[in-house]
Amino acid sequence: MTNFKSAKIVSVGSYVPENVMVNKEFEKFLDTSDEWITTRTGIRKRHIAPRDQLTAASDLGSRAAMVAIERAGLEPGDIDGIICATFTPDNFFPSTACSIQARLGCSSAYAFDVSAACAGFVYAITIANGLILSGRGKNVLVVGAEVISRTLDWTDRSTCILFGDGAGAVVIQGCNDVGQGILATHLASDGSLGNILELPAWGEKRTMKMKGNEVFKHAVRMMSEASIKVMKCSGTVLDDINFFIPHQANIRIIQAVADQLQIPVEKVVTNLEHYGNTSSASIPLALEEVWNKGAIVEGTRVLFTALGGGIAVGSAMVQF
Ligand code: UT7
Repeated sequence: MTNFKSAKIVSVGSYVPENVMVNKEFEKFLDTSDEWITTRTGIRKRHIAPRDQLTAASDLGSRAAMVAIERAGLEPGDIDGIICATFTPDNFFPSTACSIQARLGCSSAYAFDVSAACAGFVYAITIANGLILSGRGKNVLVVGAEVISRTLDWTDRSTCILFGDGAGAVVIQGCNDVGQGILATHLASDGSLGNILELPAWGEKRTMKMKGNEVFKHAVRMMSEASIKVMKCSGTVLDDINFFIPHQANIRIIQAVADQLQIPVEKVVTNLEHYGNTSSASIPLALEEVWNKGAIVEGTRVLFTALGGGIAVGSAMVQF
């Protein structure tokens, strides 16, 4: 058992289903418009998994994970642990992480899922960091994978226009460089707000329900608070942050949080225009875009923050 001093994100991968749904398509069956959706949310299109065949979260997650494993220069057998953040698991059990393990042949890995809705990715990297620092392996694969389209009420214009399907994955690797990798994370939850964003597991009507306005207000407040905490805890000042990668739920939420934190617009990464809200996949999807541009180099410091049903919120300060 090796106890590493720190844990670093060494690669990222993503995958989205081919089928793209643009805002205009909602006009055919809902009292809405491309203009309303674009101006109120920033979203123009989203990828939707095929409805005729059963594409599961593990299908999307496995593809994203394979890219991340290859980019890390690893083989599936090198992975010591798999954590999948999802609120749309293939099954109650086996976990989606176990299905990904079987699909990829990560035969040396332990595997389990994390339920923190749209905050799931930040929760999962926090757990991966803790596992690596406590000697539970060197290479931990964190996957955020969602088929949210199956949970939506397609007659509810205030929710179904927001979401998309997709997956993102990172490999987190133990190392001994102090002051690098995952520098600090902060997690907080408020279960008393559970009813403002919910998806029941039982009963006839199992679709997502959201009090959008309320979620909006708490999202701005709680993501700002969590981000200030990780800045303090990691000794990060504003100028040290190279990129701010928030959960991609609504462009107005992102702008409000960036304003509160006084992060300049050129450091704020957004891609919800193309994907909508992909929940636990949204941060790795956005990270991959920056990564592919070659903008993540050694020493790049990134602030992640996300909020989801629970209510669960988390922020992480990461140095590459
Ligand atoms: O991933 C974490 C969870 N999710 C979020 O973080 C999402 C948080 N919430 C939001 O992004 C926003 O609250 C929404 C996009 C959901 C709604 O935007 P809003 O600016 O907060 O609108 P609103 O709920 O205050 O509704 C304003 C009006 C209402 O009509 P009335 O009552 O003023 O006549 C809604 O019925 O907009 C109406 N509306 C729509 N109109 C056209 C709601 N959805 C639509 C729609 N098209 N799709």
